[in-house]
Amino acid sequence: MLIHRLPVGRQAGEYVAHAPAKLNLFFEVLARRSDGYHEIETLMCPIDLYDTLYFQEVSSGQLELRCERGFGSLASVGIEPTDLEPTDLPEGRENLVYRAVELLRQRAGVSSGARLRLVKRIPTAAGLGGGSSDAAAALVLANLGWNLQWSVDRLAQLAAELGSDVPFFLVNGPAICRGRGERIEPISHLGMLHFVVVRPPAGLSTPAVYGVCQPAEHPHSLAPLQSAVKAGNLEGVGRSLWNRLQPAASSLSPWIEYLQREFDREDVLGHRMSGSGTSYFGLCRHAIHARRVARRLGANGVGSVFAVRNCR
Ligand code: C5P
Repeated sequence: MLIHRLPVGRQAGEYVAHAPAKLNLFFEVLARRSDGYHEIETLMCPIDLYDTLYFQEVSSGQLELRCERGFGSLASVGIEPTDLEPTDLPEGRENLVYRAVELLRQRAGVSSGARLRLVKRIPTAAGLGGGSSDAAAALVLANLGWNLQWSVDRLAQLAAELGSDVPFFLVNGPAICRGRGERIEPISHLGMLHFVVVRPPAGLSTPAVYGVCQPAEHPHSLAPLQSAVKAGNLEGVGRSLWNRLQPAASSLSPWIEYLQREFDREDVLGHRMSGSGTSYFGLCRHAIHARRVARRLGANGVGSVFAVRNCR
């Protein structure tokens, strides 16, 4: 049975969820499948870089989504973000939040509608899972807001229809994900990890990266990372970071090798691209170390830089 750990609150008649980004500490591509997807094995953890989603039930039966850009990485339930700007994010069916709520509404036979507001902080086209996380948050909030009382397992089936990463965000804890990403095995022993994440000025499309990736002839084993994680061995975790999509992304964007060189100059424990890129992250010793590395990289003008930790 899956359990969701998404931070959700209620304020002034609306439900609020903080939808985290993720990092892939390990990403192996095992095979190309006949349905156009790839068989993967990945270890992902949510990090404390959040979008915020608000849900209010309306009786009109209409669905309405408004998106705004927020700044920084952190937001707490109950704190209203102030410095917001308009964005050019889609607010209709092209937005996965809209599609998630519409799908649940249809499957559950709901007649009411909803007013949704998304404050976007997680960079897009970045391999940080922002869109998938927003969709998972939308399912959780709509389930609450319309009082449907669907189990997480039942929501997870809808989540998998919306995108391969959406079930992971529904569970919202560190996990090993297999299949096309939708088969979740939560892990309980990931300690506190501190990272610096850089999203360079240009992003990449996930299908484009998968399109040029070569599945592994000799797949990397997840075992060394799992042992290091279990033993709380930070150096071992740093040495075991892996991403099979990195060469594919490097062939499409010069930013990946540029960031690899930038991180080589830093005293981080290890560094890799996250997901299908273009975000790149380094593992740090502690929070002060992460802030120091983030300051140096930020001063070099490499894009948006975040000092984050995994959500626990
Ligand atoms: O599942 P999602 O909609 O996020 O996937 C976006 C695209 O990424 C897919 O259409 C596919 O091209 C690629 N993909 C893949 N193998 C996966 C996950 C995604 O090839 N395991």
